[in-house]
Amino acid sequence: MLQTAPDQLALATRDGLPDDLLQLRNKYPRDVWPGHANLGDWVQFWLDRHRMFRELGAMLTDACEQLQGARIGIAEFEPWFTPRLEFFFGHLDLHHKIEEFHLFPVFAKAEPVLEHGFALLESDHQAIHALVDTMQEAATRLLADTSADADKDRTRRAGDDTARALAALVRGLYAHLDDEEDLIVPIVLDHTEAKLGLV
Ligand SMILES: [Fe+2]
Ligand SMILES: [Fe+2]
Repeated sequence: MLQTAPDQLALATRDGLPDDLLQLRNKYPRDVWPGHANLGDWVQFWLDRHRMFRELGAMLTDACEQLQGARIGIAEFEPWFTPRLEFFFGHLDLHHKIEEFHLFPVFAKAEPVLEHGFALLESDHQAIHALVDTMQEAATRLLADTSADADKDRTRRAGDDTARALAALVRGLYAHLDDEEDLIVPIVLDHTEAKLGLV
């Protein structure tokens, strides 16, 4: 599969999936998904994972904004933020591995005309992991000193860097989740979970 997307399809610049990947999505637009007979337990569980990532992104963003607005201090921020960030990154990494090794090949085999869409989603995962690395580095700098006498200017600058890196990550991740759902859910609705061997 492709390792990097052409520039116009890069996660940071594209606006949704290109038309050639939207044939099935046009047959099954988002408003028919809820309550569709083929929206089974597997796809609902997978969509729930995406919902969890979106919620975690929003919660972490809110915590960074509270720190930036001095509504909480770094000593209070750290024990809330660190375990949730680790949970977020750990589950995101696992989710991507499952998709790449188990799920994308199943869907690409079922719909060979959409195979290049899965190469695109894999290149998104690489872009997201680069954004995770940048975010992790910023958070490590921020959390290097959480003591009561931590340098306030340094904490403020590191907090701004962390918030900026998180915003870029969340923006990229949300765009990826939307596009991935637009590619995969219509395949499941068209083929059924049972025929795809998902259940
Ligand atoms: Fe993904
Ligand atoms: Fe996903």
